[in-house]
Amino acid sequence: MSISELIERLPKAELHIHLEGSLEPELLFELAKRNGVETGFRSVEELRAAYVFSNLQEFLDIYYVGMNVLLTERDYYDLATAYFEKARADNVRHIEAFFDPQAHTQRGVSLETVVNGLAAAAGDARAAGLGVELIPCFLRHLPVEAAEEMLDALTPFTEHFVGVGLDSSELGFPPGPFMPVYARAHALGLKLVAHAGEEGPPDYVWEALDALHVNRVDHGNRALEDERLVQRLAMCAIPLTVCPLSNHKLRVVESLEVHPLRDMLQAGLVATVNSDDPAYFGGYVNDNYRAIAAALDLSGEEIVTLARNSFKASFLPQDDIEKWVAEIDSVVDTLRRESR
Ligand code: HPA
Ligand code: ZN
Repeated sequence: MSISELIERLPKAELHIHLEGSLEPELLFELAKRNGVETGFRSVEELRAAYVFSNLQEFLDIYYVGMNVLLTERDYYDLATAYFEKARADNVRHIEAFFDPQAHTQRGVSLETVVNGLAAAAGDARAAGLGVELIPCFLRHLPVEAAEEMLDALTPFTEHFVGVGLDSSELGFPPGPFMPVYARAHALGLKLVAHAGEEGPPDYVWEALDALHVNRVDHGNRALEDERLVQRLAMCAIPLTVCPLSNHKLRVVESLEVHPLRDMLQAGLVATVNSDDPAYFGGYVNDNYRAIAAALDLSGEEIVTLARNSFKASFLPQDDIEKWVAEIDSVVDTLRRESR
């Protein structure tokens, strides 16, 4: 059995996907037309050709423009539904998806429009058997007061969310100042995650742990520069949601061949593979597994560990995690028997 087939057959969870980053150029143009919004690009091809980035900020500048076409509840529903279909095709069974409410309310779209559209899509996907949870993220390049206000606005909708996150430009925007917002989110019963150590130094990961008390770190690549930090993440089993194609496209790593994913696994970290912004970085979750498996020559056992980790790192109840891990074991058994 090939590594590709193994990747396709394994049930997986995806824990680091920005729904706005799943906006494919085709849908972007369709929504632009539907809403009478000017994209500034003449064709899907011209838009796709603009997706060349040399760092996180260059990507974010395009990402925030792309979402200008999202205006109505139906747009948010269509966006999320298109991603859920892609994920399902990759045998993803559980999703904890990010969205950036401030990037929409700043443009005059109401929070209700965003949440109603996404929650309706999540509800329909759940009814069709896919596990879906939503995680609103605070934009760290905006003032902490704006995050406080957004948390106030999100509070009536908390039944729709499993947690809160922190994203956008990292360098110069450490997690620490968001401590009071995170303390309040925790008191609301929400799980806590934050992007840290993508471009930012290990200190930002320490702050995410010690000031925000995150349950999970998004990216976390640069944590490997600090041995004590690696020990802490391993000892407390704080998972990392790693995004190989994103890391390559945003030049967090020079090439996939030098990506630290195997080092993370060997250090005993609960590393997972995710797509981040699949429409912009060239692939969905299986594309990420395939690319990193090829570049690092990952073994079947390492691939299976990554799939198991995806559920262990999720916010599913322990019983469900055990059920999915058992399902993975059973798929592995079946594949072994087939290949005899
Ligand atoms: N990092 C930070 N913010 C983001 C990202 C990312 O990879 N994707 C969307 N917003
Ligand atoms: Zn991200």
